[in-house]
Amino acid sequence: MSELALEAEKLDAADELAPLRDRFVLGTASDHAADSAGVYLDGNSLGALPAHVPDRVADVVRRQWGELRIRSWDESGWWTAPERIGDRIAPLVGAAPGQIVVGDSTSVNVFKALVAAVRMADAAGEAGGEGRSEILVDATTFPTDGYIAESAARLTGRTLRPVTPAEVPGALSTRTAAVLLNHVDYRTGRLHDLPGLTAAIHAVGALAVWDLCHSAGALPVGLDEHGVDLAVGCTYKYLNGGPGSPAYLYVRREHQPRFDSPLPGWNSHAEPFGMSPSYAPAPGALRGRVGTPDILSMLALEAALEVWDGVPVPAVRAKSLALTDFFLRCVRAYTEPGRVESVTPERHEERGSQVALRCADAGEVMKRLIDRGVVGDFRHPDVLRFGFTPLYVGFADAERAARILGEELA
Ligand SMILES: Cc1ncc(COP(=O)(O)O)c(C=O)c1O
Repeated sequence: MSELALEAEKLDAADELAPLRDRFVLGTASDHAADSAGVYLDGNSLGALPAHVPDRVADVVRRQWGELRIRSWDESGWWTAPERIGDRIAPLVGAAPGQIVVGDSTSVNVFKALVAAVRMADAAGEAGGEGRSEILVDATTFPTDGYIAESAARLTGRTLRPVTPAEVPGALSTRTAAVLLNHVDYRTGRLHDLPGLTAAIHAVGALAVWDLCHSAGALPVGLDEHGVDLAVGCTYKYLNGGPGSPAYLYVRREHQPRFDSPLPGWNSHAEPFGMSPSYAPAPGALRGRVGTPDILSMLALEAALEVWDGVPVPAVRAKSLALTDFFLRCVRAYTEPGRVESVTPERHEERGSQVALRCADAGEVMKRLIDRGVVGDFRHPDVLRFGFTPLYVGFADAERAARILGEELA
C-alpha cells in the first residue's frame, strides 16, 4: 500500500462524517466488474440516492396518492410542501424560516428572481438621470442563467452587461438595477466572494441575486447574515433530491412585501381557492410559488433532506476542503508534471467542493475513468470535473481516483 493510501485510511478512520456514507446507496451496475473502483465523484451533477428514499416515495405513490387520493392535498401536507421543504433547506443556506419556497426549475426561479429584483429596484426609484438601466450578469455563468438574464433584460427594457465576478465592483454604478452571480463556478469550482460582492452591489443601491447550485449543501452560504436579496438553487446536486428535483427561491424577508413575481400563478394568490379573476399576492415567501407543485419529486426531496439531520454545515465544509486538498496532493504525486493543470483555486477562500483539471484529451480520459469506475464528468472543451460530496465521499475514494487518473494519463 502506498503512503498516500495509508494516509487516506487514517483520515477516513478519524472522519466524524464517515458514518453518513451508510445513509446512501452507492453501488452501481459497473461496481459488479471486479476491477471497478466504485468511486462516485459526480455529486456536483447528480447527488447519490439516500437509502430510505425509495420506500418513502413508494408510500407517497401507493398510500398518499393511491389510497387517500385528493385528500392528500390536506392530510398528507401536499399543499404546504413548497414552504415546508423550503424551511428545511433554510438552515443549510443560512436563512431563517419563511423565506424559501421550493418549486419549478432553477432556470424558472432565476427568471422570477431577476425580474422581481429589477421591479424592486424600480420601485425604490430614487435614481433620476438615466435610472437603473442595467443588469449585470456573470459572464462565466452556467449558460441557463445567461439566457434567462438576456430575456429578463429584454422584457424589463434593460441593457444586459456580462462581466466576470472579478469585474463586478468596477462595473457597478447607480445605473445598475440588479446583478446575477454564481456562488461557485460550475466549471472551475471557484468560490466567489458572496459577502464582499453583495456589499458592493448594495453600496450602489442595486440588488444581488445569487445562484447557489454549486454551493448549497457543500459549504456555508449565510444568506441572512450577508444581506443577500434573492437567491436560487437546485436540489439535485449536493442536496441529493433526485434527478430533476425541484429548485428553490429565497426572498429576503424585508423584500417580500415588494416581491412582484413575473409569474403570478394561482398558487401564490392570497386566496388560491377564491378563484378570483384578479390577482392578489399571498404574504411572505409564498409569493414565489406559481402553479401546482410537482408532488412526487418534491416529496422525494423532502425525504432526501433527512440525511442532513444533525449534520453541521461547517463540518461538511471542513471535510470538503480536506478532501479536495488531499485529492490535489494525490494528483500531483501520481501524475507526470504538466500532464494536467488544476483550474480550481488553491486558496480555501476561493474553492468550492470540486476539483477541475484541464487536459488536452479530457473527454477521452473521462470515458476511460468511468470505465474503471471513477465517475466524474467532462465539461467542454477540456475540463475534467471531480465533485466531492462530504456526506458520502471519503479520503480512500480520493486516493483511488487520483491513482487511476494518473495511470490513465500516463
Ligand atoms: C449554476 C447552475 N445554474 C443552473 C443550473 C441548471 O438549471 P436547471 O435546474 O433549471 O436545469 C445548473 C445545472 O447544473 C447550474 O450548475
